[in-house]
Amino acid sequence: MKKILPILTVVCAVIFMFNGKKYDELVSSRLSSDVAICLQGESCGQAVLAATSSSAAGGSRSAEQIYTSGCAACHDAGVAGAPMLANQSQWEQRLAKGTDMLINNAWSGIGGMPAKGLCSDCTKEEIGLAVEYMLDTL
Ligand code: HEC
Repeated sequence: MKKILPILTVVCAVIFMFNGKKYDELVSSRLSSDVAICLQGESCGQAVLAATSSSAAGGSRSAEQIYTSGCAACHDAGVAGAPMLANQSQWEQRLAKGTDMLINNAWSGIGGMPAKGLCSDCTKEEIGLAVEYMLDTL
């Protein structure tokens, strides 16, 4: 009986360590998938972006396509204080900066807006097209 006790202890310890590791792996695997989707969101959005922009990449995109896949997520509903599409009063102050400055800010990011919005593979010309598309709705 005295010999069994240390063996039991070792077995218990092994089981405990094994379970602990498995649990950690489970947690981190769950975390890695969920967090990737959500942290990127301000990040949530970038997961969408990756999916949409890769399919859109390659051919030339229209201003509307760029807006829809890369900008609408925030600018349709005014997420995080984004000036909304076709909302004159929300754009009024910004328009005073001039189109070039607005394009520069959309390109490099400003306040709650990430650089290039959700269109990470957009060229500066494409960002310009999207900005002009937005301004045309005013
Ligand atoms: C993740 C949300 C988000 C996305 C996506 C997004 N924007 Fe924005 N955008 C914002 C927010 C928030 C602001 C307001 C920033 C501020 O002034 O603090 C803003 C402001 C702007 C402005 C005004 C900049 C200024 O100088 O006042 C322009 C132009 C603009 N966005 C263009 C775009 C374009 C073009 C796209 C798509 C390629 C886009 N945005 C995608 C959130 C977003």
